[in-house]
Amino acid sequence: MLRALTFAVGVALATPLASASHLLQRQSTGNSSNSTYPGAVDPAAEPGAQSFQTSGPFYPSPWVNGQGDWADAYAKAKDFVSQLTLLEKVNLTTGVGWEGEQCVGQVGSIPRLGFRSLCMQDSPVGVRDTDYNSVFSSGQTVAATFDRGLFYARGNAMGAEHKAKGVTVQLGPVAGPLGRSPEGGRNWEGFSPDPYLTGVAIAETIKGIQDAGVIACAKHFIGNEQEHFRQTGEAQGYGFNITDSISSNIDDVTMHELYLWPFADAVRAGVGSIMCSYNQVNNSYSCQNSKVLNDLLKNELGFQGFVMSDWQAQHTGAASAVAGLDMTMPGDTVFSSGESFWGTNLTLAVLNGTIPEWRIDDMALRIMSAYFKVGLTLNEPPINFDSWTLDTYGPLHASVGANIQQVNFHVDVRGDHASVIRNIGARATVLLKNVNNALPLSKPKFVAVIGEDAGPNLWGPNGCSDRGCDNGTLGMAWGSGSANFPYLVTPDSALQSQALADGTRYESVLDNYATSQINALVSQADATAIVFVNADSGEGYISVDGNEGDRNNLTLWHSGDALIQNVSAICNNTIVVIHSTGPTLLTEWYDSPNITAILWAGVPGQESGNSITDVLYGKVNPAARTPFTWGPTRESYGTDLLYTPNNGNGAPQDDFTEGPFIDYRSFDAQNITPIYEFGFGLSYTTFEYSNLQVTKLNVSAYTPSSGMTEAAPVLGNFSTNLTDYLFPNSSFPYIRQYIYPYLNTTDEKQASADPNYGQTAAEFLPPHATDGSPQPLLPSGGAPGGNPQLYDVLYTVTATIKNNGTLNGEEVPQLYISLGGPNNPPLVLRGFERLSIDAGQSTTFTADILRRDLSNWDTVSQNWVITSYPKTVCVGPSSRNLPLSQSL
Ligand code: NOJ
Repeated sequence: MLRALTFAVGVALATPLASASHLLQRQSTGNSSNSTYPGAVDPAAEPGAQSFQTSGPFYPSPWVNGQGDWADAYAKAKDFVSQLTLLEKVNLTTGVGWEGEQCVGQVGSIPRLGFRSLCMQDSPVGVRDTDYNSVFSSGQTVAATFDRGLFYARGNAMGAEHKAKGVTVQLGPVAGPLGRSPEGGRNWEGFSPDPYLTGVAIAETIKGIQDAGVIACAKHFIGNEQEHFRQTGEAQGYGFNITDSISSNIDDVTMHELYLWPFADAVRAGVGSIMCSYNQVNNSYSCQNSKVLNDLLKNELGFQGFVMSDWQAQHTGAASAVAGLDMTMPGDTVFSSGESFWGTNLTLAVLNGTIPEWRIDDMALRIMSAYFKVGLTLNEPPINFDSWTLDTYGPLHASVGANIQQVNFHVDVRGDHASVIRNIGARATVLLKNVNNALPLSKPKFVAVIGEDAGPNLWGPNGCSDRGCDNGTLGMAWGSGSANFPYLVTPDSALQSQALADGTRYESVLDNYATSQINALVSQADATAIVFVNADSGEGYISVDGNEGDRNNLTLWHSGDALIQNVSAICNNTIVVIHSTGPTLLTEWYDSPNITAILWAGVPGQESGNSITDVLYGKVNPAARTPFTWGPTRESYGTDLLYTPNNGNGAPQDDFTEGPFIDYRSFDAQNITPIYEFGFGLSYTTFEYSNLQVTKLNVSAYTPSSGMTEAAPVLGNFSTNLTDYLFPNSSFPYIRQYIYPYLNTTDEKQASADPNYGQTAAEFLPPHATDGSPQPLLPSGGAPGGNPQLYDVLYTVTATIKNNGTLNGEEVPQLYISLGGPNNPPLVLRGFERLSIDAGQSTTFTADILRRDLSNWDTVSQNWVITSYPKTVCVGPSSRNLPLSQSL
């Protein structure tokens, strides 16, 4: 048996033990064994995180077993993987390198079995880098609908478009960032800082995507809450020479109750893949962090799919493999380097025994289980687009310009999705203020539309690469989470069409700085002024107006606040529409009596103008709810990003000291009055809440999972003759920079190009890393999503909701629970439903309270526990308007 290290040449070895293993759990201080506290939750385990805290080792990496509803997919995967050679298994796990094939990421193919390469493609709002695709609203925008049906419909339509382009894995949806701080650049890609809402939204989106026959990828796992310092190269680009990525330092309670929560929903919904993130978690890189991948994700949550790295988020070879990574993207260590931590090195690592055979089998099993779970077959149609050019003909391997052929077939995959997008845009628009019956508009005499955000980008809707600018109306934010617009209906064009149909006089000024023209217009008699403003953000590889992905502040862009103040000083019927990637500061102007209405329209996608017109004119009666809090000041949020490294050139330390107290949980705990609270949103009609009923169900007590797993399965043998692994022969086309599984010589040391080749696995990997013997089940685990009893319904809650106004409408009753403990947020969202109720009619709101909804994470027993602190259920139309309540 050969023994060796397996690392690519020129890549510094991150101290493998230190980087692959750390202590996540916050040490309980004080009286953890003292029974004076009610229930098992240790009151000393108050939220808290410390700089330089570490992440505990967890080995071996749990192997899949087809639990939950994965049995069929697992059986097919086992059958398939049993036929594979070692080289073929490696090919499934390793990307071919940056721009090596048509998709943003692809792994190797298995030509012997006619199996084409898997195509990984962004984005969470539509198929990226192609044409004839739709652009959907952002995740954050659809979250505002609080509508399970729309979460699913959006996911399903996006999935269908990816499927029709030949995509295997859609790189979304997003639950990390969750939205710890409103400035976070990619919060718009996710849903909401509330983990319950995000959990429901991500689960429904995943079901929608996967029902369309595409694997969803829940990302970025985990603690990926800001763009600054996520990658060292990027940070150098804006002037900080750090040696390691930022560490999100998160305590055990906060990890479970906040950041992991929606990923549990994703896993329970059957998500096929999870992308590990760029950041470190407790000073261990996410893609080699055995605590988060092996323990939290694969053991506790029973994840049956595969973990893929974010692009260049892998930092080690063998260490990441035993810590739970299953697929490396895009395959090369650094874009276009031609070197890989895996590929050849993974082949060698298995051959020389550093990586046990069961681990590579498990990687392949996980990938193929996800593949079969969503109904993919061994004969999928080819990929019909190319991420690197919109030209019809181009190089198949754009990395080196090789193999010119037809790469784009310009397949129109949009179907009738425009209507879904328009509907979501309208149903996601939050009516924050509406006085003097300003809205809905009804054949107004004169409409004056003001602001760049109402108009087009003069360079075209796709005029800025990956939407990396803020020109014209904000239909999409920037980064890899973007897609090309097939068109963009601007508010100006849609509102003008409506005005023409109504015989309304219509003028617009689309320059925020054309003050004299604006003043001349909005001062005219009978003007209804609609001011469009925005605030943008995106991914860290693009800087817009000095914002390195994250927003530098919470004010409106292009002097939007001054624009609103100017117009509203002149016109006493000023309506404000905000497009943004999160809250902005409204404090200076929101309560002006001349500002008669304020709407938040999020980032609505291609139908933007039609959606907002539908709401302004009452074709859709608004019911959306703000999925985040609008605070009076930046400081009122209690959290902020790290904009300057705080650890010299070492990894910046981002201590999540606020624990679970983010967004409304923080405002409530600190008793700060927000401008508009989480869950708030008006309608053109009104609703009355009554008759709360809480019914307790007879459910057996919670039992911790126990017992042992089976031993890790090993599927087939492989040759140990190194000549079987050499690059095939001179007739096999060799593509420069392409990542292959082959060796170029039978001299292992030379093949590995690793000067340290020769260390043993025992010297090199953490204890138990290679152990394939049966392992104990975790008390809190046992099925996808965690211990299945966490999802038992303990109570059913009903309330009567009456539409006591004169218009038909929709209402979103919300259920909050006070968990009662000294370290718990005053209230947490635990139920909601979007109901359609005609004028004068009543309907019943029903919500189930699950065991999980009433539980806290106990650091002592490492399990969920319902404490004996008093619990209260509240129901109402927002987090601060809860007319109904009852103790449990
Ligand atoms: C990096 C981003 O963080 C990730 O979300 C995306 O899927 C990949 N790049 C691929 O574009």
